[in-house]
Amino acid sequence: MARTVIKAGTVVTATETWDADVLIDGEKVAAIEAAGSHSWETGADAVIDAEGKYVIPGGIDVHTHFELPFGSTFVSDSFETGTRAAAHGGTTSIIDFAVQVKGERIMDGYETWMNKADGNCAVDYGFHMIAGDVNDDSLKAMDALVGEGVTSFKLFMAYPGVLYSDDGEIFRAMQQSAENGTMIMMHAENGLAIDVLREQAVARGETAPKYHTVTRPPSTESEAVFRAVALAELAGAPLYVVHMSAKEAVAELTRARERGLNVFGETCPQYLFLNWEDHVAAPGFEGAKYVCSTPIRPLAEGHQEYLWNALARDDLQVVSTDHAGFFYDDDETMGRQKRLGEDNFTLIPNGLPGVEERLNLMYQGGVVEGRISLNRWVDLCATTPAKMFGMFPAKGTIAVGSDADIIVYDPGAAFTYTADTIHMNIDYTAYEGIEIRGKPEIVMSRGKVIVDNDSYVGRKGDGRYVKRGMSQMLR
Ligand code: URP
Ligand code: ZN
Ligand code: ZN
Repeated sequence: MARTVIKAGTVVTATETWDADVLIDGEKVAAIEAAGSHSWETGADAVIDAEGKYVIPGGIDVHTHFELPFGSTFVSDSFETGTRAAAHGGTTSIIDFAVQVKGERIMDGYETWMNKADGNCAVDYGFHMIAGDVNDDSLKAMDALVGEGVTSFKLFMAYPGVLYSDDGEIFRAMQQSAENGTMIMMHAENGLAIDVLREQAVARGETAPKYHTVTRPPSTESEAVFRAVALAELAGAPLYVVHMSAKEAVAELTRARERGLNVFGETCPQYLFLNWEDHVAAPGFEGAKYVCSTPIRPLAEGHQEYLWNALARDDLQVVSTDHAGFFYDDDETMGRQKRLGEDNFTLIPNGLPGVEERLNLMYQGGVVEGRISLNRWVDLCATTPAKMFGMFPAKGTIAVGSDADIIVYDPGAAFTYTADTIHMNIDYTAYEGIEIRGKPEIVMSRGKVIVDNDSYVGRKGDGRYVKRGMSQMLR
């Protein structure tokens, strides 16, 4: 069992910041003590000097899509390339979504995704389950999946005819979750109204990428959040709303939280850093790079500032990425992706790459630019995600007995995001040209260094499946 000492760093958790050394024994944190109060270096296998650096728990991205089919194509990152890119960005655990497509047995979908990930991941991984069909089989399977460590289920109020569930199906799944203690995750958009708006826009010849946002106005998100909350309250179930981008939708969630309901929300860096005017509505087809759902909204409407404040106030609890990259230009292996919608925005595959950039973006936009504290940064990117989805305290903090998923983070590093320096399997970064201060110097996964000063030194298959428990956030 290798013993590693991380010495002279500043340890930062969701609640505390202190100067301390960390002793790692094998895969776990064995001790945390003040410098000079121990003699761990004698007999240690490795000593990492963290002077002037933050020592933080590894990032946890609870919303990624690797190898996900979308329309006629697939998300461009495999579990291998996506989790390696995650490691580069300081994320040491991801939760991806296994999919039950309509007509398929839910357990078959779960097995398919387990096989895709098995032996391929650079970091630890778990699964939520997308329930494409709510029926007697899938409701029963929700119970069985708990035993497999899948304790959260995503439903879609969007995408009619594909993954869409109607209110009755949603309510039945929520009743099941109220009974078995699992979490319902909701893609909250009124998909039926959106489909009408899209059809009408295309009929008017409004086919450019910018109409993706125009045909998904804030009320299509806020109405769905209101309805999801009402159904969850009726069923007595907890609710987690994914990828929130409209201030009106967050306000609905806040109202429900103020009433004491177990409802939670996440947002993603694309909604905090990008906007409709400069990105989605960029000239030509460029805007396709930023087509995702919920959509990136106009800066002029004030969503971005509202979301940052919601994160600071705990009106939103988690920052994930909803990583789902598609090549902008045709790729030799992946073929035509974003350009499928060159003549019609409704054919642009929905999603953005981002699993690599989250931790640094949130440090820059949050901590460096003064919107959130250092501890809140750790909380939003690691601790609450771990608690929300039943992985704490093995994951999400630095404490005796926790997994040694640790980042030595250099707050003095400076760099700019560009397409040719990222590690994801994609031909662009949504954050091109954004200047960042701060970067992971060392990334450890269960005591093993997997990224050392920008070099990946881990191995495919280092990542292990995490059997999750129930949410630890319920009041
Ligand atoms: O546009 C998005 N969000 N694509 C990924 C699938 C989803 O709805 O999360
Ligand atoms: Zn979604
Ligand atoms: Zn998603």
